[in-house]
Amino acid sequence: MVNLIRSALNSIKLGYRIARLKLSHVNSAPTIEYNKIADSYDEHYLKYVGKSALEMFEKLQIISGQHILDLACGTGFFTHLLAEKVGNQGKVFAVDFSSSMLELNKKKAQEQNFSNIIFIQSDALSFLESLPDHSTDGVVCAWAIGFMDHRKLSQELERVVKPGGFIGLIENKASSMKDCADLLIKVMMDYPEAIVKNIDVNLPKDKKYLVKNFCQRNFLVQHAWDGSVIVPCKNGNEVVNHLMKSGGLSVLVDSLKKTIIPQFFDKFIEYANEQFAKGKDGLVKYEFCAVVGKKVYDTNVISKKVRKD
Ligand SMILES: C[S@@+](CC[C@H](N)C(=O)[O-])C[C@H]1O[C@@H](n2cnc3c(N)ncnc32)[C@H](O)[C@@H]1O
Repeated sequence: MVNLIRSALNSIKLGYRIARLKLSHVNSAPTIEYNKIADSYDEHYLKYVGKSALEMFEKLQIISGQHILDLACGTGFFTHLLAEKVGNQGKVFAVDFSSSMLELNKKKAQEQNFSNIIFIQSDALSFLESLPDHSTDGVVCAWAIGFMDHRKLSQELERVVKPGGFIGLIENKASSMKDCADLLIKVMMDYPEAIVKNIDVNLPKDKKYLVKNFCQRNFLVQHAWDGSVIVPCKNGNEVVNHLMKSGGLSVLVDSLKKTIIPQFFDKFIEYANEQFAKGKDGLVKYEFCAVVGKKVYDTNVISKKVRKD
């Protein structure tokens, strides 16, 4: 009887944890884990999604001399592109919570002789809150709004971006890596005690979500699009290697009981290999959405002028 009750309680707990995982992707202390994967991030994440990020960069109307904010800048993919574009008269404020990501960004900037980048180790929202109204020409946030409160972020973007300035946001969708997430849930069924911290990441549903939540009031939508990228993996080991080194699992890893991590991922590899044996392709598929918006001068104009790609 005691065992029955225990088992029922475990099922409820597991259901709750899985519901949280499904609803909110994964989050505990992402920047701690990003500190550990800074050196492999470019080679294992940007290598695949960088082309899509570049497409967003090309849509931004950046002028020499502007002051631009790279929120959650990481190892500097956007930071350095922006620094090149704004030139010596301009400035890029590169903000990230992770010291290791920021250090690598700084090192690469020095190698390229950029002297127009200001590095700030801070929580992105706290940094925005410290800025005066209408103080920046543009804000880019790539692959990181999932770690932030969207309502607060949207309010701050409206407040700090100058009229005529821009925002560029790109992020994985809630549906991203669905096949991997399904396998992880299966492993969690085997190890219900594995998750010891809350999982709470806030990924957008799609481009419509970004438009509705970030461009409803003061930003005219210039471009909004959805896309996907498949990472070619041949077996379960390659999948786990990619996820670990890209940061894709950084927050899940931080949520797991440390002693269980080896068994947990051995099981995942086993399940992934079963999928590969069945001929499953594209187990690692990033699905993302993006928006580029321009701050308007008159809020009344926006409702008449919104254009969606
Ligand atoms: C997937 S990486 C994206 C990095 C970069 N934007 C790029 O395009 O490669 C996510 C980054 O967001 C940072 N991050 C996560 N939450 C943050 C927060 N609340 N404030 C500042 N940085 C944060 C992490 O430290 C990490 O460097």
